[in-house]
Amino acid sequence: MKTETTIQGLTASLAPARTAKKLIGFVPTMGNLHEGHLTLVRAAKKICDVVVVSIFVNPIQFGAGEDFDSYPRTLEQDSRLLADVGCDIIFAPSVEQMYGKHPRLTNIRVSQITNDLCGESRPGHFDGVAVVVTKLFNIVQPDYAFFGQKDYQQLAVIRQLVQDLNIPLEVIGVPIVRAADGLALSSRNGYLSEEERIAAPTIYQLLKQAEVALGEGQALSQVLANISIELTQVGFVVDYVEARQPNLQPIEQFDRDVVLFVAAKLGSTRLIDNLQINFKTSVHDKNR
Ligand code: PAF
Repeated sequence: MKTETTIQGLTASLAPARTAKKLIGFVPTMGNLHEGHLTLVRAAKKICDVVVVSIFVNPIQFGAGEDFDSYPRTLEQDSRLLADVGCDIIFAPSVEQMYGKHPRLTNIRVSQITNDLCGESRPGHFDGVAVVVTKLFNIVQPDYAFFGQKDYQQLAVIRQLVQDLNIPLEVIGVPIVRAADGLALSSRNGYLSEEERIAAPTIYQLLKQAEVALGEGQALSQVLANISIELTQVGFVVDYVEARQPNLQPIEQFDRDVVLFVAAKLGSTRLIDNLQINFKTSVHDKNR
């Protein structure tokens, strides 16, 4: 496994694979890797000949007062984990390497689907993601790029970006990886105190309970309100509890799949999760 820190170095490392027309898979990350990231790498290994993982804490996707400075940078540990799952190349550029050469005058804004959910609470976040992911796509030029479904809205933004800008690659979404108690794996889970870590899986438990309640015919608005109330009772500060169609459009009818979304803070740690629910067989008239 090689580690490259410059665009030039990465381009040179990938040249033989490109000449041999090998399939290149790409897993963009901000490091501090966990089983969720490693699952993305394993998915990439299954269909690609060469797998590149980027590790870059992207300053422009963090808002003022967010955790850019404290975001854990654990390159050595990440490298060991990536070697174990067969990553071929780590791309770990500096901020200067990614943004330093010329002032950046281009922004990328995927509209509509970034207007609410995390887009509303984190203004500018998805613009920052769109810019860095586009830059990384242009640098790595992969055939496939892998993203976790935990960041559901991010995945939708990237799919839209790739479609709108004709970026020549296929985006693959990989299911959420959870701890045994149901907590969706996230680098930010490391910020939780012992007590908060015990409370954190409540999000997933409530999502699962909501699935059952909706299947039994409870009204969606009531089910969403209950999640909010119960999260607040165990000490979360709720940002949003929402339901959308899988394409993030508002729900119009309940005989289709829906996705429930939660974002809530426990202490200073912001957690997000989502659950896709298939209503085809279980919906009740009361929900309409
Ligand atoms: O999901 C992440 O870790 C980041 O948002 C990404 C896609 C690597 C862009 O910085």
